[in-house]
Formats: sequence, C-alpha cells, structure tokens
Amino acid sequence: MDSKRGAFVSLEGPDGSGKTTHMGFLCEALRERGYRVIETRQPGGSPTAEVIRKAVLGTELNEPMDAVTEAMLYAASRRQVLKSVIEPGLAAGAVIVSDRWADSSFAYQGWARGIMKEFVAIRDVAHKDFWPDVTVFFDVTLEESLARMAGRVKDYNRLNNEALAFRKRCFEGYQSLISGDVSERMVIVDSMRTIAEIQQSIHKYLDGEFAEKFGHLRTYPR
Ligand code: TMP
Repeated sequence: MDSKRGAFVSLEGPDGSGKTTHMGFLCEALRERGYRVIETRQPGGSPTAEVIRKAVLGTELNEPMDAVTEAMLYAASRRQVLKSVIEPGLAAGAVIVSDRWADSSFAYQGWARGIMKEFVAIRDVAHKDFWPDVTVFFDVTLEESLARMAGRVKDYNRLNNEALAFRKRCFEGYQSLISGDVSERMVIVDSMRTIAEIQQSIHKYLDGEFAEKFGHLRTYPR
C-alpha cells in the first residue's frame, strides 16, 4: 500500500440508523488520535454536489423523478466530490469520512427502485474501481429505523414521502449488501445499542483494526 495515500471511510445505513449522529463522534475520535480528517456527505459535499442534492432531495419541484435520472444525479454528485474533495484528500494523506456513498445508491436505487443493471452501469461511468477502504454500516431493525424516523421533523426531504414498501426494499437491499461479497470492507455496528455503547465500540475499532491498517496516517503519535 502507498504509505502516503489517505483512507476513504463511508458510513452507511437506512434512514434512522443513527449514522449521522455517530459521524461527528467518529470524526472527533479520529482527530484526537492524530489523523487529518475531512468530513463530507452524499449527496452533496462540494458546491456543485450541494446543488445536485437540492435537485434530487428538494420538495419544491412538482414533477415525479424518473428512477434512472435519480440514480444519475446521485452518481454525478459522487463523481464531483471524488474529483474535488476525495482524490486531493487521499493524495494529502487525510482520512475522508463520507456520510453515505455508492452503497446507498445500491440499496435505494438499484434494489429499491428495481434498476440494478442501470445503477451498476451508471456507477461504472462515475467511478469504476473506486471503493471505500472501510464502510461502517449502522445496523438496525426495520421497525427501529421507522420509529426513529417518525420522530424526525428536521431534514425533511423528498424521500420522506415514500411508502413503507419502499423503506422495506431499501432495508432488504442493505441486508443483501452486508451479507454479500463486499463484507471484507464492511464494519458492522449494532446500532440497536445505546449511544454510549456504540461510541465504545467505535473507540475499540479505531484503536484496533483501523490503527493496524491506517495508523501510519496519524500526524502525531497518541
Ligand atoms: P441524508 O443525507 O439525510 O442521509 O439523506 C439522503 C437521502 O437520500 C436518504 O434518504 C437516502 C437517499 N439517498 C439515495 O437514495 N441514494 C444515494 O445514493 C444517496 C447517497 C442517498
């Protein structure tokens, strides 16, 4: 492995999995350990990609969005952030942490919208052979994720209007992903536990497996 290349970490999970709550904690825990951290998100994460986020998640456009159009917009956002944030960050030896990446499109577009072939083709155009080094997956039951989402008034977006059947399919898409052949980059976090317990397991992971692989990226020893 090129010792100067940084690391790309994606966070994944269904809506209501606690992913975004733990993102700040994870980034802070990395910084405490001496890593240079760049936080980003999908869709969004750069000026152009944030415009795409508005188009794909905004509620003001009164037109049903075609599934392939939707998949292309998410992929365009990823491509832009890859070029303007991730590649330069990796070259500078940073740890880039992204709230969602292409696995979200696998679950929400490929699986739940039923356009897997199109999703794969679009993903290949956007970033063939580019994968996260680590994907932290926040695993909750469907019931728990729905209950947590029900209490949400902030961050309302177009997808919040989707029917329960769509949520179920997204959930199944993720389950199929984490039991599939990408599991070696996957770190599964049992997100049914308390926040304190989850934070504890994040500390443990960073001091163990992550430090073994990426400890050389720390700018100072702990
Ligand atoms: P979030 O930023 O609050 O996680 O919201 C993003 C929403 O967009 C979420 O419901 C998942 C959805 N999404 C997709 O459908 N496909 C994607 O590729 C990504 C990144 C997100």
